[in-house]
Amino acid sequence: MQLAYNLAKKGCGGVNPNPLVGAVIVKDNKVISEGYHEIYGGPHAEVNAFRSAKEPVEGATMYVTLEPCSHYGKTPPCAQAIVDNKIARVVIGMLDPNPLVSGRGVKLLQEHGIEVESDFLSAELAQMNRVFLKFIQTKTPYMVMKTAMTLDGKIASYTGDSRWVSNELSRAKVHELRNELIAIMVGVDTVIADNPILTTRLTGDKKGRNPIRIVVDSKARIPLDSKILNTGTKAKTIVAVTPDADQSKINEIKALGNEVVIVGEKNGRVDLNLLVQALGEKGIDGILLEGGATLNYAALESQVVDEVHAYIAPKIIGGYEAKTPVGGKGIEKMKDAVNLQNIHFENIADDILVIGEVVY
Ligand SMILES: NC(=O)c1ccc[n+]([C@@H]2O[C@H](COP(=O)([O-])OP(=O)(O)OC[C@H]3O[C@@H](n4cnc5c(N)ncnc54)[C@H](OP(=O)(O)O)[C@@H]3O)[C@@H](O)[C@H]2O)c1
Repeated sequence: MQLAYNLAKKGCGGVNPNPLVGAVIVKDNKVISEGYHEIYGGPHAEVNAFRSAKEPVEGATMYVTLEPCSHYGKTPPCAQAIVDNKIARVVIGMLDPNPLVSGRGVKLLQEHGIEVESDFLSAELAQMNRVFLKFIQTKTPYMVMKTAMTLDGKIASYTGDSRWVSNELSRAKVHELRNELIAIMVGVDTVIADNPILTTRLTGDKKGRNPIRIVVDSKARIPLDSKILNTGTKAKTIVAVTPDADQSKINEIKALGNEVVIVGEKNGRVDLNLLVQALGEKGIDGILLEGGATLNYAALESQVVDEVHAYIAPKIIGGYEAKTPVGGKGIEKMKDAVNLQNIHFENIADDILVIGEVVY
């Protein structure tokens, strides 16, 4: 199962909104085939494992990280393929989290006399597929809020200079995250201040996938010459506005090849809960939130953030006017703080990365 788990991870950045799945076929105590779900719309892990088998799979055991599907989706059901290939035993990492289909794959296998065991490495597998698990159950994206700050809690100097807070290795790690999550979100003031392009640049010869860029911009204030609106077919941009936004500006944004979504407002700004629903309807299962401070606070307040990645650099810059990772009005009492759980610390050269799940 560990091998199947490692294989599943290779699909990272290619299968959204599908889950990461790996499969291994073992016969006479020997691995005779491996497969994983490589690309959205492509064959599932089980089918890839059958295709690359070097010897007959009849009577073998299949280890698969997720319960085989039993329904026709973009591809035929994998449970049926397992039956047709005369596999004798199936070991499943975790059952399908979708309550409507959970257990059906197991049932189909058992009805055909296949021995089934389940629940191996399930905690690790759930962690690996946390984006899929949230999306399949809520139809809204899993959101990771990423911030980078100095030791004294600033994301930019008082002049607004923010290049760079964290070190090169930390920034490379963020690009890995941009490749993993299908979309990235920023507030319009970050676009105005930094004019970022928000594409994925991986190190070495690794090829990455550019995220769908989402700009939250209630009144369509985004400058038309922003890089993010002018990348052609290289990467897609969605600008989220409220119904009050100027229609002619909306048309100009669209004319540059970008998408505009009109979302209901809350206190005069884009309602973030409605926005994540609308993005979920477009199949966006995961979002990397890269702020700034105003949008970060609003996202936490709206309870749409699931996980925080905070990079802390050993630099001190001071300045009352220098921005912090999370702004907004702020909470009144310490007892109302947003807490994190399942904390993970990592040293990235001289930076520290803190990862935690948000508790609401
Ligand atoms: N070091 C880092 O990790 C990092 C990351 C990102 C940004 N930054 C820095 O952060 C600064 C920009 O941050 P910022 O706080 O000024 O702006 P921001 O968070 O980028 O954008 C805020 C704007 O988003 C719009 N918005 C739309 N709907 C919203 C909602 N529901 N809630 C809140 N805002 C909403 C608002 O404008 P409308 O009302 O007009 O829509 C608001 O003024 C820049 O200097 C940038 O360099 C640093």
